[in-house]
Amino acid sequence: MNIIWGNNMSCSGKMWIISCIFTFSLFFPIVLASGAYPVEKFSLSSGREIFNSNCAGCHGEKGDGSVLKGAFNFTDNELMRTKNSSIFFNVVTNGVPGTAMPSFGKLSTPQRWDVAAYLWTFWTDKVAVEDGRNIYQKNCASCHGTNGDGSGLLGAFDFANVSKMVTEEPEVFFRSVSNGINGTAMPPWKDSLSEDERWDSVKYIWTFQFKDNSQLNHSSVKTTFDEIPPTGGIWYDKPAGMVIVVISIILAVVVLYLFGKGMRER
Ligand code: HEC
Ligand code: HEC
Repeated sequence: MNIIWGNNMSCSGKMWIISCIFTFSLFFPIVLASGAYPVEKFSLSSGREIFNSNCAGCHGEKGDGSVLKGAFNFTDNELMRTKNSSIFFNVVTNGVPGTAMPSFGKLSTPQRWDVAAYLWTFWTDKVAVEDGRNIYQKNCASCHGTNGDGSGLLGAFDFANVSKMVTEEPEVFFRSVSNGINGTAMPPWKDSLSEDERWDSVKYIWTFQFKDNSQLNHSSVKTTFDEIPPTGGIWYDKPAGMVIVVISIILAVVVLYLFGKGMRER
């Protein structure tokens, strides 16, 4: 009896430790996440100040990577559309080992977030943002709210929630805007808005993260995007598809000719 009881005791003791570790490991990421992600909107004026005094020396005041060869170009759409602010924050914190990109761990956490968010202003050019504002206020504000906070419809994405926005990529947003989100109220826009208009709305959405939006002084260069191949789209519009179509037509003509010849020879 005693032995069994003793066994049970040690077992429940072990169980307690295991369940304690289990519970902790469940909550640890939440604690980490709530500590790591910002809750307050970003400050453009602070981001700009930090950038100009710490980063412009290599990345250029316009963020185009023009000063040091190999420094990241934040105006390049192809590079920017698969990035998010969390990636930038981590690079600013740790640097890129083996390259000229140094660590800025000496900056405070809010300073690192502000400068990471500021990098997007090189991508959200002025023309696109103004275009995007018109498109957004006309088509999207009814659900997502005039200020992007999702106040129009319960469940509509809140673009002012920076802790959510820092892990979002422009390309994912573009796809959602184009195709809608199945099973939700978010409709597809690819038939009613051009590709440029959809990108412009995504760029405008990005500006809801700043608390001092009036301070935006975007680059005036209009940036355009390369077409993202439509998933399951019109294959015959592509070069390889065209070749297949042409070869099929030639083959059909040859077969018809041979068939006709055979008929005549009978
Ligand atoms: C001494 C030059 C130098 C300075 C100063 C510098 N950078 Fe960089 N940065 C680079 C280089 C070079 C790279 C490219 C590294 C690579 O090849 O991956 C880079 C890359 C980056 C990237 C990586 C983008 C990506 O996802 O690949 C970010 C973000 C960045 N820098 C932000 C900053 C910020 C913000 C500052 C100022 C706080 C700054 N940099 C200061 C040289 C610099
Ligand atoms: C009828 C309401 C409605 C309208 C109009 C609407 N949305 Fe949405 N949108 C939603 C809802 C609801 C969601 C959240 C869907 C979910 O639960 O994932 C959403 C999500 C999104 C997302 C997040 C997608 C993601 O990948 O998580 C983006 C970006 C977005 N909308 C952009 C737009 C843009 C741009 C417009 C206008 C061109 C627009 N929406 C118009 C209801 C709407």
